Amino acid sequence: MDRALQEVRLAAGPAELETVRVKYLGRKGVLRDIMDKLKTVPAAERPELGRLANDFKMALTAALEERRAACATVRATARTGQFDVTLPGMWRGLGARHPVSMIIEETIRIFGRLGFTVADGPDIETEYHNFDALNTPADHPSRDIQDTFWLDSGRLLRTQTSPVQIRVMESQPPPVRIIAPGRCYRRDTTDATHSANFHQVEGLYVERRVSLADLKGDLTFFAREMMGPDVKVRFRPHYFPFTEPSVEYDFSCHLCRGRGCRVCKQSGWIEISGAGMVNPKVFQTVGYDAEACTGYAFGMGVERIAMIKYGVEDIRLFYDNDVRFLEQFA
Ligand code: DAH
Repeated sequence: MDRALQEVRLAAGPAELETVRVKYLGRKGVLRDIMDKLKTVPAAERPELGRLANDFKMALTAALEERRAACATVRATARTGQFDVTLPGMWRGLGARHPVSMIIEETIRIFGRLGFTVADGPDIETEYHNFDALNTPADHPSRDIQDTFWLDSGRLLRTQTSPVQIRVMESQPPPVRIIAPGRCYRRDTTDATHSANFHQVEGLYVERRVSLADLKGDLTFFAREMMGPDVKVRFRPHYFPFTEPSVEYDFSCHLCRGRGCRVCKQSGWIEISGAGMVNPKVFQTVGYDAEACTGYAFGMGVERIAMIKYGVEDIRLFYDNDVRFLEQFA
């Protein structure tokens, strides 16, 4: 009896319920067998056994009926969309775009309007593409084991997206107008503003007469599109081996409107990107005519932009995969 009732509970739909019914109550079913054997038992025991067989038949019939009705309700609910509002809800958490992905997609869209297409390169890079071809001297501190994740093969996890510049120029003649979003890796100790794994968007524009004015104009356009018309942009002289001259460029802090806060470390500005005019030595390395073309390049920090755009005060929140954090961006 228990086994039969169990089979009823496990039946997934009307067809399976019918199979169970036939097996136990059908013309050649288990109950029929029992009734046949009833004739062979002593007459004194017959009433008692007959009663048990009858109980079994009643219980199983009721269970079948109940289960059949339940299956029908589920089907009808699915068909009509009607449901019992008093039932507890089933929450299937909806996904949302990750803020880092949103900034990358928005950046692609903005530079797309300026004629840039997307390029890609490997996360595992050669020392040549990540350093040598970018005019970074052998004794440059960024090559140090303390800054770079070196792999056994003599390769490394790229410390910047700049090697994509080299790969693109190796594979096509000028003009070039690309952006390259991707992951970068550095042996940074993780804290509120540093992570060993972060994202950059690289940009490279090479043509006949590209100037620093183009760089400033395009990056200012980008800032306004990304942050809104009120954002201020500032360029500071800097040094990078692969650009000459080089700058760093900052956004005014979106969180405190430039008044000074924790995220901008009271300065009112956030450093977003390194940039500059492509160093002719880099052009020579990739076989471009350094007399005939000029170019600008930049590499900006995606998490930096996401932090000020969305008011996120700790970079680690982007990687914790805490749904309560992520669903705020839905
Ligand atoms: N790769 C540099 C970094 O990670 C940023 C950078 C600076 C990229 C200047 C550039 C550039 O393309 O021209 O710090």
